[in-house]
Amino acid sequence: MISLCLLAVVSYAAASPTPIPGATPTSPLARRAPPSLPTVFSTNPRVARRNVLTDLDGDINSILSGLGSAIPSYVASGIPNFFQDFPTGTAVASSLGLSDADLAAVPTQVLNLPPYAKWTDQGWSLLLHGNVFKQPNISQSKLDDLANGFLIGTNISSLPADQQTQARNLTAEIYVVQQPNVDVTMIAQPLSSAGKANGSSQALAVGPTSPEGDFTSSVIIFNTDDVLQPGNTTSTIQRLDLHVNGTDTGNATAYLVPTEGLTIISDIDDILRVTQIYEPAKGLLNSFARPYMQWMNMPDVYLNWSKSLPDTHFHYLTTTPEQVTRNYMQFIYATYPLGSFDTRPLNFSDVSATLSIRKFLLDRIFQTYPQRKFVLIADTSNSDVMKDYPQLVTDYPGQVQCIFLRNTSATDSGDKFPYDTSGFKGMNQSMYMFFTVPDDLKGLDITKQCYNSSVQQNVTFGEQGLPFGNDASFLVPRTCTILLVALISVIGTFIV
Ligand SMILES: *[C@@H]1O[C@H](CO)[C@@H](O)[C@H](O)[C@H]1NC(C)=O
Ligand SMILES: *[C@@H]1O[C@H](CO)[C@@H](O)[C@H](O)[C@H]1NC(C)=O
Ligand SMILES: *[C@@H]1O[C@H](CO)[C@@H](O)[C@H](O)[C@H]1NC(C)=O
Ligand SMILES: *[C@@H]1O[C@H](CO)[C@@H](O)[C@H](O)[C@H]1NC(C)=O
Ligand SMILES: *[C@@H]1O[C@H](CO)[C@@H](O)[C@H](O)[C@H]1NC(C)=O
Ligand SMILES: *[C@@H]1O[C@H](CO)[C@@H](O)[C@H](O)[C@H]1NC(C)=O
Ligand SMILES: *[C@@H]1O[C@H](CO)[C@@H](O)[C@H](O)[C@H]1NC(C)=O
Ligand SMILES: *[C@@H]1O[C@H](CO)[C@@H](O)[C@H](O)[C@H]1NC(C)=O
Ligand SMILES: *[C@@H]1O[C@H](CO)[C@@H](O)[C@H](O)[C@H]1NC(C)=O
Ligand SMILES: *[C@@H]1O[C@H](CO)[C@@H](O)[C@H](O)[C@H]1NC(C)=O
Ligand SMILES: *[C@@H]1O[C@H](CO)[C@@H](O)[C@H](O)[C@H]1NC(C)=O
Ligand SMILES: *[C@@H]1O[C@H](CO)[C@@H](O)[C@H](O)[C@H]1NC(C)=O
Repeated sequence: MISLCLLAVVSYAAASPTPIPGATPTSPLARRAPPSLPTVFSTNPRVARRNVLTDLDGDINSILSGLGSAIPSYVASGIPNFFQDFPTGTAVASSLGLSDADLAAVPTQVLNLPPYAKWTDQGWSLLLHGNVFKQPNISQSKLDDLANGFLIGTNISSLPADQQTQARNLTAEIYVVQQPNVDVTMIAQPLSSAGKANGSSQALAVGPTSPEGDFTSSVIIFNTDDVLQPGNTTSTIQRLDLHVNGTDTGNATAYLVPTEGLTIISDIDDILRVTQIYEPAKGLLNSFARPYMQWMNMPDVYLNWSKSLPDTHFHYLTTTPEQVTRNYMQFIYATYPLGSFDTRPLNFSDVSATLSIRKFLLDRIFQTYPQRKFVLIADTSNSDVMKDYPQLVTDYPGQVQCIFLRNTSATDSGDKFPYDTSGFKGMNQSMYMFFTVPDDLKGLDITKQCYNSSVQQNVTFGEQGLPFGNDASFLVPRTCTILLVALISVIGTFIV
């Protein structure tokens, strides 16, 4: 069996035009020196890929028996591997040769993720979350070196000027020094429906920040001037203006979400924007250098929902790391309806946490609003979504209104990421739909229906998107496929 697998791998890899970058250091096939990475990675090893290789290196059977855990984490999670294991705090400072005095001169910034609030007996309770950091001034030549560490297989100097700027911008955002143990004063002020300040402002004490500079604090909003409606007597989403005392970087809007109503939870990559995570060479450039691009006419679909159902709460939930969130928010708010945001906090950085972060964030919002209904949207290239979305139907009976999944492999033959549809087995078809283009969602009244009968469903319940197709499963069982995927990613390194 293994030799059949290996034979298949070799021919598959030889035929594969797209190298999978950064797949990693050592290999059972060829023991070569690892490609050199920026020095910070030595203090923050790319745990995910190292695990795969250790397994491959040590005992090939551990892959066959370890299944799930042995899949490269980026394949399993749909998170581009180039967005894993970013350097943090002290590693950044030391790699840039920064002293405490250098850093003291740099202003403190705050990433304030647009939060949601729930109605409680005490009033509106707001869950503030974000990060406190300093952004050192890095010379362009150093930034280029660091960017080349991410642009595996591409030299930044070979990109068009605007893409070079974007790659440097993202690199600078990643090379920040997070600030632990900091207290922040946030100032909140109610906004009228027209977006004008209405009512007095309130200072909110936030912090101290975690060792990674993150803060997560629940605070009660006082309804001093009686401008805010209780969440159990209104169906309207109310807003607060937020800013952080002492910096201009922490401005955000908070959403006060009523006890009952409809919340749309949307993933971002490959559903709202073109990322092509599943084709790592393209995904890398799309994430690091190219301007963000909307996916087809998806903004029309969201615009229609926000206009026809004005009380809908939009919540953007992506597992992309916090450091690059600003770019995501800027793109989303320019292209899609306003709403609250969740990204991957910095304490979720090892492999198991990376794979569990989506469920953690989903559980949190479902438990915050036990009487709201949720429409869940994403694409099939995220294996965590494919597991978590149907699980929510079981875990929170009656709360999932619809699940919409873009079948990325239907329109993009480059998508070879495996995914599992077995969670949908037995689910009422009226609750979910796999679709291929945004127009498939047009004309659906999501308060009543989730399935457009003109969109042909081809779901077979089980493993999908296998390198040799589902029908070949008698020839290439799942264990072998996992081995294939792991080895292809290893071989990818040497093609680069
Ligand atoms: C709304 O919530 C408040 C605070 O929990 C409670 O005192 C009040 O009775 C509730 N009103 C209704 C109509 O449920
Ligand atoms: C950043 O460093 C460059 C030289 O490397 C200097 O020209 C520039 O003024 C510095 N910017 C700030 C904000 O200190
Ligand atoms: C990238 O290109 C520049 C300019 O051509 C060159 O100086 C540099 O060594 C190259 N870097 C890498 C990592 O290839
Ligand atoms: C990156 O670009 C965004 C948007 O243009 C800007 O707000 C941000 O300050 C830039 N970040 C850096 C580190 O230059
Ligand atoms: C401000 O809030 C008060 C109390 O809810 C309300 O009567 C008034 O219309 C609001 N003003 C604006 C401009 O929305
Ligand atoms: C904001 O910061 C300034 C300067 O540190 C301080 O004087 C002021 O009291 C702060 N405001 C609040 C509301 O904490
Ligand atoms: C942030 O909010 C403060 C207070 O409302 C405002 O003065 C400032 O201009 C805002 N900064 C940005 C960058 O929007
Ligand atoms: C990360 O921190 C949050 C609180 O900010 C906590 O609830 C969560 O359990 C932590 N997760 C991990 C994996 O440490
Ligand atoms: C997705 O599309 C591919 C290619 O058309 C098809 O083989 C697969 O069955 C589809 N998956 C689902 C869940 O619709
Ligand atoms: C599926 O859901 C629809 C709409 O709620 C309902 O009419 C239908 O009876 C359900 N089908 C099954 C098999 O439960
Ligand atoms: C199902 O298969 C048909 C025929 O290949 C295709 O046109 C359609 O887009 C597929 N549907 C999905 C959701 O993949
Ligand atoms: C817009 O959304 C509403 C509510 O879901 C739906 O009834 C309507 O058909 C949609 N219109 C279009 C053009 O998609």
